[in-house]
Amino acid sequence: MKKTTTSFVCQECGYDSPAYLGKCPECGEWNTLKEFKISAVAKSGSARQSSIPQQSTTPKKLSEIKSTEKERVKTGFLEMDGVLGGGIVNGSVILLAGDPGVGKSTLLLQTALNIAGMRDKGVAASMGKGLGHKVKNTMPADNDLTGSDNQTQNSSVLYISAEESAEQVKLRASRISQDTTDNFLLLSLADTDAIVEVIAQTKPKLVIVDSIQTIESQNTGGFSGSVGQIRYAAAQLVRLAKSQNIPIIMVGHVTKEGMVAGPMLLSHMVDVVLFLEGEKNTGTRLLRSYKNRFGNVDEIGIFLMQGEGMKELKDTDELFVSKHEKNQSGSVLTVTLEGSRAFLVEIQALVVTSKLPMPRRVAIGIDQRRVELLLAVLQKHCNLPLATMDVFLNVAGGLRLSDPAADLAICLALFSSLQNVSLGTTVAIAEVGLLGELRSASFIEKRIKEAKKLGFNTVFSKDTHKTLKNVIQSVGK
Ligand code: TYD
Ligand code: MG
Repeated sequence: MKKTTTSFVCQECGYDSPAYLGKCPECGEWNTLKEFKISAVAKSGSARQSSIPQQSTTPKKLSEIKSTEKERVKTGFLEMDGVLGGGIVNGSVILLAGDPGVGKSTLLLQTALNIAGMRDKGVAASMGKGLGHKVKNTMPADNDLTGSDNQTQNSSVLYISAEESAEQVKLRASRISQDTTDNFLLLSLADTDAIVEVIAQTKPKLVIVDSIQTIESQNTGGFSGSVGQIRYAAAQLVRLAKSQNIPIIMVGHVTKEGMVAGPMLLSHMVDVVLFLEGEKNTGTRLLRSYKNRFGNVDEIGIFLMQGEGMKELKDTDELFVSKHEKNQSGSVLTVTLEGSRAFLVEIQALVVTSKLPMPRRVAIGIDQRRVELLLAVLQKHCNLPLATMDVFLNVAGGLRLSDPAADLAICLALFSSLQNVSLGTTVAIAEVGLLGELRSASFIEKRIKEAKKLGFNTVFSKDTHKTLKNVIQSVGK
């Protein structure tokens, strides 16, 4: 007989309490606890998941545990493998989050097609450029890349879409490539328990669930997207991935504030959290790792959204630099670090006389408060009349800069626009302090090397000048 228990779950953070509380003790929000009925079946999962073997309860010595390091599935995108730390680790759960329409489904569909098309190590090694599923299948189906532990796994990739119908996904797939592969399995399903059952029976090489917010189960209360449903679905999928050693990639939606929608603990439950970022009007997409149990965080991969899906970009030298006359005022270059990569980035500024009592300060790609701070430093220490000016700042190429080493370039771009001094070929790499002093940027040698490699030899940094005023004086007329 089914027994049900009642649980009160905070809709903000996912805190679980057996009794109702007015204020959530975890996140401090009021009236966010909602009642959920959880049946005993859902809790134990025993009736539904009869095909999932129970996990071992015997502790093992380190020496007895096989290393999983080599058991990575290559995605067919070198950029994505780099972000993941070398490929998808078997049994890992990856959350890919991003704004609607940024290209999550497209990127994962391509990844799924790539992996479904891979046959042997030789093919995988040459998979950097194109879509691997163009390669003809000549090997037995179970002779794949997933390692010796997965004798039972087959080489299929299962793509579960709860957002789009199978026809819609097929349309998208045919837009990406004309080739088909029998290893790519598609399922349009939104029932969490049925999804878990299908995965357990199919035992694919990789599962993609698009998206975690749109699947729901009868075993827990609330609509799809509610904290209870997301938590339940994530818990079931994580358990399945670990017990069956099947990697699962889940798509996650983001809230207006840019966080993954749903309980905060969703990010804790998964092994890897990736964000796909990019401005809608530019084709550039950045894949960034925010959490990675198997690699470095803040690594980025660069893609370009095209008519036929995503293309990875390897030549990124001039990506964040606009093509314009270099003698125009209001533009200064800097070199920023994203993970272990250095990029030349152009900062554009426009400073015009304001007619407003509170002049406008608009910054795209740069933190507004940082801009206010730098404007105050310029005014106080360099005597620039910025208080009565409207200020507009932009980072070319749609990049979001959080690197303090861009401070000097921002200040110089503002100065350049204000005084009509052209600094288009100047590279500035330093943090600016409140006293107008320059501070050294991290990995400065690497940054300067990148600037020089691209032919920019005028580099201002802590090594060339002590204060912002010194720099302004040396470039001023
Ligand atoms: P999609 O992957 O559906 O975004 P998400 O899953 O993150 O919501 O991508 C949707 C956008 O991408 C849509 O505006 C159309 C565009 N697109 C291309 O430019 N080229 C393509 O080949 C595809 C499939 C989509
Ligand atoms: Mg989508």
